[in-house]
Amino acid sequence: MDLSELDLGAAQAAIAAADTVDELADLRKRFLGKKGAVNRAKESIKTLDPAERPKVGQAVNAFTTGVTEALEGREAEIAPPGSAEPPLDLTLGSHGRRRGHLHLVTQCQRELEDVFVSLGYRVAEGPEVEDDWHNFEALNFPVGHPARAMQDTLYVDLGEPEQVMLRTHTSPVQIRLMETQPPPIYSVMPGRTYRNETVDARHSAVFHQIEGLAVDRGLTFGDLAGTLETFTSAYFGKKVTSRLLPSYFPFTEPSAEFAITCVFCDAAGCRVCSYTGWIELGGCGMVDPNVFLAVGIDPEEYTGFAFGFGLERMPMLRYGVEPIKTFFDNDSRFLSRY
Ligand code: PHE
Repeated sequence: MDLSELDLGAAQAAIAAADTVDELADLRKRFLGKKGAVNRAKESIKTLDPAERPKVGQAVNAFTTGVTEALEGREAEIAPPGSAEPPLDLTLGSHGRRRGHLHLVTQCQRELEDVFVSLGYRVAEGPEVEDDWHNFEALNFPVGHPARAMQDTLYVDLGEPEQVMLRTHTSPVQIRLMETQPPPIYSVMPGRTYRNETVDARHSAVFHQIEGLAVDRGLTFGDLAGTLETFTSAYFGKKVTSRLLPSYFPFTEPSAEFAITCVFCDAAGCRVCSYTGWIELGGCGMVDPNVFLAVGIDPEEYTGFAFGFGLERMPMLRYGVEPIKTFFDNDSRFLSRY
């Protein structure tokens, strides 16, 4: 057999010359691996004359021991225990990833909630799929009443025809609150609303509203006006003022629309406010006695006011976002800006 491969001196020199962990691994394989020099020598011992076997066997063992020691020694020099590659630091964020954040409409909703919570209001929510009673009937829109046509309704194909719908406003949550809790009530009710609307720059079939309801003894129209003024200056700043103009809603009497001075031209008149100096935000009024009767609250004992306005309007005015569909496109270039 060829024992020249078992030259310990040459093997030790090769091991000492190795510089990397990989080179050492190759040498280990060459000498001690399955098909390495040691194993091949052991195989060939079987072919030897029995008298010669012990001597060659000893030589193979000595080589194995010597190579093993040399490999371990060099391994310790190249990569002393503990000095190996530093542990992977998984606590660092990776490059090129940005944290998500709340949608501009949600941010606006939270901000408005905060303003009203600071005035002592609670936040309530209701279902987006409503029944005729909550969306219309209890709000003093009798069947066939022309006021129903004010809101183009998207009906859901469920139960009797036109009895289940996507809510056209957040006002049904007023009914749900008054049905389940006694006055005093001071609540705001934000949420998504739907109308069978022709889409244009400022109208969308899906949008959000925030509703307000206060029911207590002795509440007056002055309380309504003061509340709206407090809220508009908290959101838009002190130089913005609000005004109320007569309007009509079946569930409030008297009713008003409320507007603020144009934030773009300081009420001087510009394209955004159609040169009127005013921007309409929403509707409001004193709760109609018929609504109180529908939910079992005595209109002789309690009075109340309510208001409701579109949520998208607020950031549209504050940041000049248009058209309204920008909010629902989910273009990350728009979303990441706010
Ligand atoms: N629900 C009305 C609308 O969507 C707004 C409103 C709310 C008016 C509360 C008066 C009182 O147009």
